[in-house]
Amino acid sequence: MTLIFRKETPADYKFVEKIIEEAFANEAYSDQTEHLLVARLRNSDAFIPELSMVAEVNGEIVGHILLTKITIKNAEITSASLALAPVSVKPAFQKQGIGGMLIEEAHRIARPLGYRSIVLLGHAGYYPRFGYRKGSDFGISLPFEVPDENCMVLELVEGGLEGVRGEVVYSEEFG
Ligand SMILES: CC(C)(COP(=O)(O)OP(=O)(O)OC[C@H]1O[C@@H](n2cnc3c(N)ncnc32)[C@H](O)[C@@H]1OP(=O)(O)O)[C@@H](O)C(=O)NCCC(=O)NCCS
Repeated sequence: MTLIFRKETPADYKFVEKIIEEAFANEAYSDQTEHLLVARLRNSDAFIPELSMVAEVNGEIVGHILLTKITIKNAEITSASLALAPVSVKPAFQKQGIGGMLIEEAHRIARPLGYRSIVLLGHAGYYPRFGYRKGSDFGISLPFEVPDENCMVLELVEGGLEGVRGEVVYSEEFG
């Protein structure tokens, strides 16, 4: 089996959207529109082409991850950050580490682009293994009500959230 991770290209778009639909099809909390969110974000100012990445097994796309620009804002300061949303692995390929490798690859590409942190809304049992901690530990919150443990943040570099606190401002494409 050959597993590679690479930047998504326009030729991948329809295959990626199908993977996203399949991945979220049976998720109770999902409204099954994540593929439409990705399509909107690709056309937005928040899009960073290098941070829309696919996992390919023997030439077939089986996973995707998207990190887009957000800011974290309080009365004094607005700081640049990234939102991780969504990450998807085709059901038949789940639980083989591909999701985790996509997350680590996205971190690796984001650092030299100058990004210092990532925020996500996700399962509290999954992301801490990649270094994510509760946003509330850093004084960072989402602009809607979620259980405290589901707002998670990562410092991509040491001190990446030093002096950063406030509420996440998503691009309007998040809707
Ligand atoms: C989340 C997802 C990307 C993980 O991909 P994957 O390739 O299966 O991930 P890995 O093999 O690296 O890790 C599997 C681990 O993730 C855990 N996991 C997957 N989905 C989970 C969920 N909904 N809640 C809690 N843990 C979950 C598995 O239990 C497993 O944990 P274990 O190692 O302790 O057994 C994949 O399950 C998926 O596409 N899910 C549907 C879409 C989704 O919910 N995306 C995340 C929200 S944006």
